[in-house]
Amino acid sequence: MAENLTFAGFDTVALAKKYGTPLYVMSEDIIRDRIKAIRKAFDLTGVAYDINYAGKAFTNLAMCRIIASEGISLDTVSRGEIMTALKAGFPAERICFHGNNKRVDELRYAVEYGVGHIVVDSEDELARLETIQAETGAEIAIMFRISPGVEAHTHELIQTGTEDSKFGIPYQQAKAVVRKASQMRGITVDGLHCHIGSQIVDDKPFVLAADRMLSLYQALVQEGVPLTTLNLGGGFGIPYLTGDESFDTLKYIPQMVDHVKQWCRAEGLECPKLVVEPGRFIACEAGVTLYTVGTVKTIPGVRKYVAIDGGMNDNPRPALYGAQYEAFICNGKAEEQLESCRISGRACENDQLIAEMPLNQPTVGDTLMVTNTGAYNYTMASVYNRFGRPAVVLLSGDRDAVIVERETDEELLHFDRVPEWL
Ligand code: LLP
Repeated sequence: MAENLTFAGFDTVALAKKYGTPLYVMSEDIIRDRIKAIRKAFDLTGVAYDINYAGKAFTNLAMCRIIASEGISLDTVSRGEIMTALKAGFPAERICFHGNNKRVDELRYAVEYGVGHIVVDSEDELARLETIQAETGAEIAIMFRISPGVEAHTHELIQTGTEDSKFGIPYQQAKAVVRKASQMRGITVDGLHCHIGSQIVDDKPFVLAADRMLSLYQALVQEGVPLTTLNLGGGFGIPYLTGDESFDTLKYIPQMVDHVKQWCRAEGLECPKLVVEPGRFIACEAGVTLYTVGTVKTIPGVRKYVAIDGGMNDNPRPALYGAQYEAFICNGKAEEQLESCRISGRACENDQLIAEMPLNQPTVGDTLMVTNTGAYNYTMASVYNRFGRPAVVLLSGDRDAVIVERETDEELLHFDRVPEWL
């Protein structure tokens, strides 16, 4: 009898049995390795830098603890994310707050708790901050998100730096807005930011964006705006499928730093502190999802359907972006006999987690593992059809523990109210 599949040294069938399915499983060791690798790539270049982990990829109290203990910073996009980080004891000064339409209460909250940087996305937001500054007298450090007008070759829904974008100050207007902000009392502008998209697997758009941002940065410094920092965002693609040619983030970072250094040397500009904001690169390959095979149906001459006990609720990415994943039957079988299958979820619609994938003798009750689900799965999960959201288990060395509990029936009813006339 062959062995069951393992993840991060753990028997996946045993994990499924112990915690139930569907189950998100995250490896703390892989997360930490990723962060250390980025740090090492930067350390070798000798520039001043920071890494902002993009919490939208995967966030909760335990993850904030890991990020805090690695000494890097955190990119947040809501009061909820900031609150989670603060509750985890994350240092407020290492939090940066993004968002194209932050509410006034969220901005106030960020200012009140001393969030390190607010990344201002629009002139309207700047006006709101000016009011909050006047009311509170707080010293507020900001950066500006600029839309550099660069098209990244990725899914349309996750392109964020084109000219026609809801995000950021349009490039042409940036100088005037930054200039205006730099004269405001109690507001310090110390950097520029851009983020051109996600799951990018080609370095050309990154380089183009960096060049545009450097020109703008230089022009503003020459005008006397005391900028120190250039945040070039995240978006580094990872290989989802075996054999996928991946973007090599660890090779790209020193190349990007070199490029920036050369640019600055040629222009006589002091090299800014460089910031990157990876989410997916840190979390994605650190996670898998475990499911149980519930039904197996063969339609003669058509195909074999394998239905699992999760799907678009816990992983909406195939439905949203046509994202592709791989799955494996975890239970050891005497021999390998691969059969092409469609892996479908249990939502009341035609949700295909994986349209076509060879599986090894899928049998009712088997554990099925989908790989590379550590980013934008747990954080994008829904309770469609009133399926409670899965638990998250963290593996660390030979320890395992629940870091997010499975949603219960009581919790599903928690927010429901019945008006008196019913
Ligand atoms: N910084 C900013 C300002 C961002 O908006 C994002 C992602 C990141 C950093 C991190 O990007 P990453 O390194 O993770 O690619 N839900 C989509 C991804 C949306 C990403 C939005 N912003 C998906 O599942 O592919």
